[in-house]
Amino acid sequence: MNRPYVFCHMMTSLDGKIMGSYMETREGEVAGDVFYNIAFGKEPYYKHQGWLSGRVTTDDNFTLYEKPLLDQNAPLVAAGDYVARPDAGMFYVSVDPSGKLGWKKNELIYIDTTAHVIEVLTGKASNAYKAFLRDLGISYIIAGEGALDYALALKKLKNLFNIQTLMLGGGGVLNWSFIQAGMCDELSVVVAPVADGSSATPALFEARDGFSISNPVGFTLKSAKVKSGGSVWLRYTVNNQRDE
Ligand SMILES: NC(=O)c1ccc[n+]([C@@H]2O[C@H](COP(=O)([O-])OP(=O)(O)OC[C@H]3O[C@@H](n4cnc5c(N)ncnc54)[C@H](OP(=O)(O)O)[C@@H]3O)[C@@H](O)[C@H]2O)c1
Repeated sequence: MNRPYVFCHMMTSLDGKIMGSYMETREGEVAGDVFYNIAFGKEPYYKHQGWLSGRVTTDDNFTLYEKPLLDQNAPLVAAGDYVARPDAGMFYVSVDPSGKLGWKKNELIYIDTTAHVIEVLTGKASNAYKAFLRDLGISYIIAGEGALDYALALKKLKNLFNIQTLMLGGGGVLNWSFIQAGMCDELSVVVAPVADGSSATPALFEARDGFSISNPVGFTLKSAKVKSGGSVWLRYTVNNQRDE
């Protein structure tokens, strides 16, 4: 396969929400630990080398809607990708097609996991933004002109950074766009036994104009396990994956 094995790993409430006040409840916190330990804990199940997030998820959790400090007069950077740390071992990969994220450094710490940052850009990102990333030592790949080229992005992540297994880590817009493109092999969901009834929070999958459509996709159950605090870990094969 000319791309990494891709598994989508998420925590949801009973009503399928991926954020909201349910997360601060006791049930939500226990399920959050289950979620983390499956993918990142001392004995992780998947042993992936990187995880992929949408631009909004990165802003919510790491870059906090800071604007990048851009030099509009920066010299023209070399064309193509920029690989700063091919051997980092663990990578945080952010889909940021236009180059909006205001990074401060080239690595981040998620609970107790340290990762080198890779930005996935398209032809919409400016020279000034690429120069900004190079100054910080942040790797980037270009995948597509106006729209994200999924197969190319995944191929580059495998070939340039040796990512054999990649976690698709949300949010709902990113998840559904990869599933609709046939670029997700497995779904892994930890369902917390709690709900908050909000209609203002995103669900596990969100179709978004320009990125995806709401075409139904089937899943085949691989396993169902009861975990701490009554949370449930469900694993499915995605029925429409492509091997490119
Ligand atoms: N419960 C969990 O396990 C979990 C895990 C992860 C995230 N979350 C939460 O989910 C929330 C965000 O979810 P979200 O669905 O609103 O946003 P998201 O998927 O994180 O980000 C959406 C943005 O990412 C870029 N993007 C996504 N798919 C793309 C594609 N196919 N092609 C090009 N660009 C693409 C676009 O950026 P531009 O707008 O720049 O074009 C798009 O607007 C956050 O609050 C986060 O905390 C929860």
